[in-house]
Amino acid sequence: MENNFDVIVVGSGPGGYVCAIRSAQLGLKTACIETKETLGGTCLNIGCIPSKSLLNSSEIYHKAQKDFANLGIEIGKIKLNLSKMMNNKNKSILTLTKGIEFLFKKNKVTHLKGKGSITSKNTVTVENNSKKKSIYQAKHIVIATGSIPTSLPNLKIDEKMIVSSTGALSFEKVPKKLIVIGGGYIGLELSSVWKRLGTDVTVIEFLDHIIPGMDKDISSEFQKILVKQGINFKLDSKVTNVNIVKNKPVVDFTNNKTTKRERIECDKVLVAVGRKANIDKDISKIGIELDNQKKIKVNKKFETSIKNIYAIGDVINKGPMLAHKAEDEGIAVAEIIAGQAGHVNYDVIPAVIYTSPEVAMVGKTEEQLKKENIKYKIGKFPFLANSRAKVNNETEGFVKIIADEKSDKVLGVSIINTLAGSMIAEAAIAMEFGASAEDIARTCHAHPTHSEAVKEAAMMVDKRPIHF
Ligand code: NAI
Repeated sequence: MENNFDVIVVGSGPGGYVCAIRSAQLGLKTACIETKETLGGTCLNIGCIPSKSLLNSSEIYHKAQKDFANLGIEIGKIKLNLSKMMNNKNKSILTLTKGIEFLFKKNKVTHLKGKGSITSKNTVTVENNSKKKSIYQAKHIVIATGSIPTSLPNLKIDEKMIVSSTGALSFEKVPKKLIVIGGGYIGLELSSVWKRLGTDVTVIEFLDHIIPGMDKDISSEFQKILVKQGINFKLDSKVTNVNIVKNKPVVDFTNNKTTKRERIECDKVLVAVGRKANIDKDISKIGIELDNQKKIKVNKKFETSIKNIYAIGDVINKGPMLAHKAEDEGIAVAEIIAGQAGHVNYDVIPAVIYTSPEVAMVGKTEEQLKKENIKYKIGKFPFLANSRAKVNNETEGFVKIIADEKSDKVLGVSIINTLAGSMIAEAAIAMEFGASAEDIARTCHAHPTHSEAVKEAAMMVDKRPIHF
């Protein structure tokens, strides 16, 4: 095999594989290194994709139990077959990871299997399963090694009783009682999955609200909805200890305000307190600078402190840890290497929590605007007043549009609704084109659709909704 490349990408997650394909499309001789058996990184193998499969299956199971009869669909006793549900999830992972293999072949990206280390400015060493080392030269190297779960001090994740998202995506039995540490993306998505399948779930969150970073309005409404679904919350609480007593985890936590201590025994503990950059010691050894959070420092062109070495995705000190942000950075960096003007607009990166209803946002929250001293106006339209949502019995949630007080430019949009994850794309496009709330209000939206609530919220900014 030829050992000289224009671009070598280390890591095949959504950042890495997209960067490799785009580089090859632009005529650069490209290789992508992956340690694991399958391509796709955390997102495809143990993250976004398997969690969405379980969210979808568990939601259908839950609806079949709770809602079908009311719709006139009577199907008798419903039984859960967890191993079949897991097999369906594994089949989806396989199809999608094979899909990347196909795309690599189609675009002539060389797939190098093994563990890659950057051994000099232009050299990458790949060690395969049988410890055989091969050396490759590259004009440009892109680090796209993603992130790994963090834990709490003195808390060891064993992926059996005390698990990260990886373990919680593959439980062999429905746990009776699950404690989730952290009320963020992973904590709430996986709480939803297991609650729907019959687990008693309690989320312990350090802050006094869930999903930090999202609009406070959204986070309090969302919590109310999850409480109605039967998920328990212990907010403003710090986990101090998790011990295994008589083969069961016991979680100790203290309320930050009252200092009241509590203890809960359970069957499984999911630790979902964030993720950290996955940076190999060999990478930092060659002198790539990290920031104080141990993420790789990059400039506007995604260059690290070594000019021909770039970094994208969860490993860098820019933007949220989201798959689609990494993909966009992958495209941008490939275009920059090819001499084009690739860029990523960090002001317009949507974020979605794929629960039911879904929660989505793009742009700024009210809290951020207050901090930045920017004057704004708000339009908020409830799905209770949207005809399609009413017909579908999906009336929870609202659309909230925040626009600049003077110019009317849309600064942020948040949505809670069954379709929020797809609906937020309209807001992202509007913001990318610098739309005003009036632009959205004057755009014809099909009737009857959930998206009419976006138009109505935009009209609400000017205090002239029709259906409210
Ligand atoms: P997160 O940052 O979303 O949430 C972690 C939560 O844990 C926060 O609410 C934090 O306040 C809380 N926490 C931290 N220390 C704690 C303690 N000692 N006790 C109790 N609570 C504590 O992190 P998460 O959920 O682990 O997700 C990791 C990353 O993966 C995120 O950056 C997210 O963007 C990404 N992700 C995205 C998904 C999506 O796009 N739908 C789905 C899953 C993950």
